[in-house]
Amino acid sequence: MERTFVMIKPDGVQRGIVGAVISRLEAKGLKMVAAQFTVLSEEKVMEHYAEHVEKPFFPSLKAYVMSGPVLTMVWEGKDAIAIVRRLVGATNPAEAAPGTIRGDMGMETGKNVIHASDAPESAAREIGIHFTKDELVAYTRID
Ligand code: CMP
Repeated sequence: MERTFVMIKPDGVQRGIVGAVISRLEAKGLKMVAAQFTVLSEEKVMEHYAEHVEKPFFPSLKAYVMSGPVLTMVWEGKDAIAIVRRLVGATNPAEAAPGTIRGDMGMETGKNVIHASDAPESAAREIGIHFTKDELVAYTRID
């Protein structure tokens, strides 16, 4: 069983598509094991996007992800990391395949609806930034 970190970004929240995004993850068969509706602190943004801090787009990325509330979540399932990445689609929604979350619900890289961990190491790191162990629930799976 694998866990992955997912965040619905401020544009997704403000456009009222949180439920639609969650529905896709649920329908696939993934289980939500943690969630928090919050405005990210600068500290968390710097830590979460540490690999992008020196990139030219970082100032606009930081302003965007701090511009309003986000829904941070942890989702669980077999091969959850790769499966969620496939459901999410390419970083640029203009190029993301139809049928993916970004392909169906977004228009531009600067407002790409959702973030999902890209590898086991980043999933563990990102879950640790946003949640404590106690906040991850365990429940009987309905298989
Ligand atoms: P995300 O999957 O959260 O990971 C890094 C984020 O940086 C990405 O989604 C985009 O929101 C943002 N990003 C990546 N490349 C660019 C870019 N060229 N211009 C603006 N934002 C970018």
